[in-house]
Amino acid sequence: MNIDIYNSYDNMCKKVVEDIRYAINFNMFSEYFTLGLATGSTPLSIYKYIRDENWEANKVTTFNLDEYSDLPYNHPQSYEHFMEENLFMYKQFRYSYFPENERYDDLIKNKGGIDIQILGIGTNGHIAFNEPGSSRDSLTRKVELTENTRKDNSRFFDSIDDVPTHAWTMGIESIMRAKQIYLLASGKHKKEILEKACHGEITSDVPASFLQEHNNVEVLYCD
Ligand code: F6R
Repeated sequence: MNIDIYNSYDNMCKKVVEDIRYAINFNMFSEYFTLGLATGSTPLSIYKYIRDENWEANKVTTFNLDEYSDLPYNHPQSYEHFMEENLFMYKQFRYSYFPENERYDDLIKNKGGIDIQILGIGTNGHIAFNEPGSSRDSLTRKVELTENTRKDNSRFFDSIDDVPTHAWTMGIESIMRAKQIYLLASGKHKKEILEKACHGEITSDVPASFLQEHNNVEVLYCD
């Protein structure tokens, strides 16, 4: 996988938004487009730019990658709340879903599969909440979060003890079924793991490395 290097975070995000616009306006996939969404810091400007897009959001269905379990939906750190604040309160999509049981992959399939999937990468190489050790065949399931991920995410909570220990996540196989994938990383602290994911051995120790087996992935990086 080639890594496209961008000179600014905003330009990197604009490129993804332009590609989504093109895919929707030219019905590249289907009339009812499905967009796979990530939370966290990385896609924030993508959502900022999508708010100003003119395409008809009511033709688009969204599927989020993951959601903490055991947090009420209106908890400020729930991913549903994050999406509401950063995107959904500005754009009315046809349907928006979050994983909360094992039927999620069937739901995605029934909606025609994910056309474009946006991904960030964890400093331990996770994609969604597929932590190191996750199997290539994994589907949507409830997982235990590693200490590393809870520590990384504690910046959004008062303390690490408040970070949930479990989450629902799409699996590696669920992600690999997307027709097109954008893997984004922003910041020098992500450079080494991104290199490993893109050019290293394909191994469950670095879950993002499985993306090397997908035939339609774009990798975008900025310092
Ligand atoms: C979030 C998700 C995670 C993040 C990753 C990077 O929905 O799926 O895999 O993409 O932890 O997080 P940030 O972007 O905050 O560095």
